[in-house]
Amino acid sequence: MAQTAPLYILGIESSCDDTSAAVLCNDRLLSNVIASQAVHQRFGGVVPELASRAHQQNIIPVVNQAITEAGITKEQLGAICFTRGPGLMGSLLVGVSFAKSMALGLDIPLLEADHMIGHVLAHFIQPNGEKKKVPAFPFLCLTVSGGHTQIMLVKDHFDMTVIGKTIDDAAGEAFDKTAKIMGLGYPGGPVVDKLAKEGNPGAFRFAKPRIQGLDYSFSGLKTSFLYFVRDQLKNNPHFIEENKTDLCASMQHTIIDTLLEKLVKAARETGIKEVAVAGGVSANSGLRAALLKTADKYRWNMFIPEFAFTTDNAAMIAISGYFKYLKGEFASLDAMPYARQSAGTENQA
Ligand code: KG4
Ligand code: ZN
Repeated sequence: MAQTAPLYILGIESSCDDTSAAVLCNDRLLSNVIASQAVHQRFGGVVPELASRAHQQNIIPVVNQAITEAGITKEQLGAICFTRGPGLMGSLLVGVSFAKSMALGLDIPLLEADHMIGHVLAHFIQPNGEKKKVPAFPFLCLTVSGGHTQIMLVKDHFDMTVIGKTIDDAAGEAFDKTAKIMGLGYPGGPVVDKLAKEGNPGAFRFAKPRIQGLDYSFSGLKTSFLYFVRDQLKNNPHFIEENKTDLCASMQHTIIDTLLEKLVKAARETGIKEVAVAGGVSANSGLRAALLKTADKYRWNMFIPEFAFTTDNAAMIAISGYFKYLKGEFASLDAMPYARQSAGTENQA
């Protein structure tokens, strides 16, 4: 790929409940600022209306901080890339409108990124120092977040096919609902992860979903967990409190096993041994350990993102913008956000 002159790209991400801005110099990360919205915690999930308002409050300080931390001025920016979708419409609109007006004000090109493709491309963000190894094409990427769970066959930066996906809930939702049922707060993934470390993953058995092909399903698992806990509470009102760590460890184990079973199947069917993981759930310590073990067993080259690039961040949007810039693919000022998965990665299974 031809190397361009140093290009400073500002990435803006506002698809859900994190307002984030990042600056890259070509593919090198200079800053990545994330303002998470605590306002949703007491509601046990993201409240769209509150998310839009918080983005509106956060966006200017977050962008200013990202530019300052990068050690540049806004006049040095060469392009701005925003998340066009999928996500919450009101949240996306804040980032999209902000990016458009800033690009217009600075008279620089505008680029758009798909959030899910961004999670995958996060693997190509280079540190501001020694270069790191990136996945070679074609590779498989297990993309697991709060809204999506899919296996992508990645043939190029923008040539990705979803070869398996959840037919109902995402893996992140399974973590979040486990935590909600146990009264552990939102987002549930990090809490379940922490408690699971102290528990026995074999203490309780939950039926793993049996879905054909490379697709996933997590809604049955959630329901069986709910009914199991309810039944136990009838006999022992302290059941959750007394079995907290074992419940978390057992649920986490079942989710990880389910995720890995299909990933192994996908690798076997495609013959691909270059494997990556992306999205918020890839922060899970149990999943990371299980992936490394599986990679060792099947001799995969495994790519696990740094923690900062697992959950939502703007660095992954800026790197998407960098590759779009190299291709000369710019966004139009009338680009509208989209709430659901983009045409580029939809239903190609
Ligand atoms: O990618 P992400 O930040 O946002 C979406 O695009 O959805 O993913 C958020 C999801 C939430 O469901 C959260 O509970 C989960 O990622 N998550 C985790 C962990 N950290 C975040 N799940 C399991 N273990 C974690 N350590
Ligand atoms: Zn995400």
